[in-house]
Amino acid sequence: MTCKIGVLVSGRGSNLEALLKATTSGFIKNAPIAIVISNKPGVRALDIAKRFGTPTEVIPVDVQDRAAYDAKLADALIRHGVEPGSGMVLLAGFMRLLTPEFVGRYSGRMLNIHPSLLPSFPGLNAQQQALDAGVKVTGCTVHFVVPEVDAGPIILQRAVEVAEGDSLESLSARILKQEHVIYPHAVKLFVEGKLTLKGRKVIIRP
Ligand code: GRF
Repeated sequence: MTCKIGVLVSGRGSNLEALLKATTSGFIKNAPIAIVISNKPGVRALDIAKRFGTPTEVIPVDVQDRAAYDAKLADALIRHGVEPGSGMVLLAGFMRLLTPEFVGRYSGRMLNIHPSLLPSFPGLNAQQQALDAGVKVTGCTVHFVVPEVDAGPIILQRAVEVAEGDSLESLSARILKQEHVIYPHAVKLFVEGKLTLKGRKVIIRP
């Protein structure tokens, strides 16, 4: 059965690009990216989607009513076949909090990538938080989305060493490289039905 994917973006789109490569090359099978939705117009992520011939929609944040905004998101996803029961939603640098209602609709079928080893350094500027804390190892995490920010069950992580003299840019770039590896991997595992949720833990079947 086909699992249609909707990707939510806000900016650069490098993770989107890694996901598009994975779904169009056959690395991930039977799970096409059916729609890319941005809350911002004119961002690079939209150009990347168009380059791959993937439909895009911009849903600008014109209202502060979160429920109304998320209803528009759900409507766009469902119009493109990303159904709550069979589809999948991927957050790829989507800079907006989602309502518990929206998260609940796609519960267990929505993933996010975060540039730290969660539960360390959730929220904004995770790489800077790691530098400020003086940790020697940080990394990235793919997790299921729950209503609390960056708090869902962890699917995959990759560690990245912090080098002496690392700048925000140099560290972020090395983490990003690993993000592009683990995000498509986690999606592949999900689509192949290899992930089972047991409480807060994700069991990966071989
Ligand atoms: C990435 O660092 C991701 O971990 C975080 O937002 C950034 C998005 O980058 N959630 P990009 O738009 O995928 O290039």
